[in-house]
Amino acid sequence: MASIVAVKDLQKVYGDGFEALKGVSLSIRKGEILALLGPNGAGKTTLISALCGITTPSGGQATIGGHDILSEYRAARAMVGLVPQEVSLEPFEKVINTVRFSRGLFGRPRDDAFLEQTLRELSLWDKRNNLTKELSGGMKRRVLIAKALCHEPQVLFLDEPTAGVDVELRRDMWRTIEGLRQKGVTIILTTHYIEEAEAIADRIAVINRGEILLIEEKGALMTRMGRKSLRIELDDPIDAVPAALAAYDLELSPDGHFLSYHYKTGGEGTGITRLLQALAQAGLSLRDIHTSQSSLEEIFVGLVREDAA
Ligand SMILES: Nc1ncnc2c1ncn2[C@@H]1O[C@H](COP(=O)(O)OP(=O)(O)O)[C@@H](O)[C@H]1O
Ligand SMILES: [Mg+2]
Repeated sequence: MASIVAVKDLQKVYGDGFEALKGVSLSIRKGEILALLGPNGAGKTTLISALCGITTPSGGQATIGGHDILSEYRAARAMVGLVPQEVSLEPFEKVINTVRFSRGLFGRPRDDAFLEQTLRELSLWDKRNNLTKELSGGMKRRVLIAKALCHEPQVLFLDEPTAGVDVELRRDMWRTIEGLRQKGVTIILTTHYIEEAEAIADRIAVINRGEILLIEEKGALMTRMGRKSLRIELDDPIDAVPAALAAYDLELSPDGHFLSYHYKTGGEGTGITRLLQALAQAGLSLRDIHTSQSSLEEIFVGLVREDAA
């Protein structure tokens, strides 16, 4: 699939000398949902702000739909919609006018039918004549999405769209995002909710301290996540894994008391029954067994911790 956003070695050093992006490279495919996952301060907002022309990068390059974000700013910017992290709306303006005005800013001809459809899809049509200050926090977030969509962007950036949003609205937003993807919109969403990335993303990128640590298909990551371990405690310690058990790829603890066996939960069989039989045949007697599962959360926390070391 063709890449619609291409980022190469993008850097951002803030005025105080702080390096918020240390050479970020990524390629975003047309029509995918990419979740950018990272702890607070990782550089997520800085990256999105640079791509949307809100902050100027200090080095590197990026293109959107083939347009350079600096030398072809207007063409690049016209392709993107941004739902910012902070809610910022004109308090005394009606919802419908806020959205209509945003479309006009992009030089798009007036299209009331399109605006109506957008507001209806976001359950905002009934509120179109309300002043934005009269809306609840969740409704304000929807207005931000409507504003970002009103010039029909091909790429939508959502910066923590569901931060502080209740569970029901979060699910509504996930549905909205999925609906946009079905229309061919490419979506880049930042979050620090791992569950959110799991629920809707095609690919997951992890960013920490201004660097991309990994970018991987969710499915592949979930397969890794589906790994479980069986830890077998032996009655009597052993010096080495018996040759008869070589096929199981067991790990022996340094004290010789524990054997660890890793298996996939999604696979056809875990091999546990055969392993236990083989252990008995090898004359080993077991004191106890424990299982543990690695989750995406553990993978993520582990990555970030390793990166900090
Ligand atoms: N205008 C600024 N001047 C100096 N440092 C900033 C500025 N904006 C953000 N930072 C710093 O850059 C880092 C990344 O911030 P940000 O991109 O907002 O992270 P995230 O969105 O992942 O939480 C943080 O350490 C933040 O304090
Ligand atoms: Mg942020």
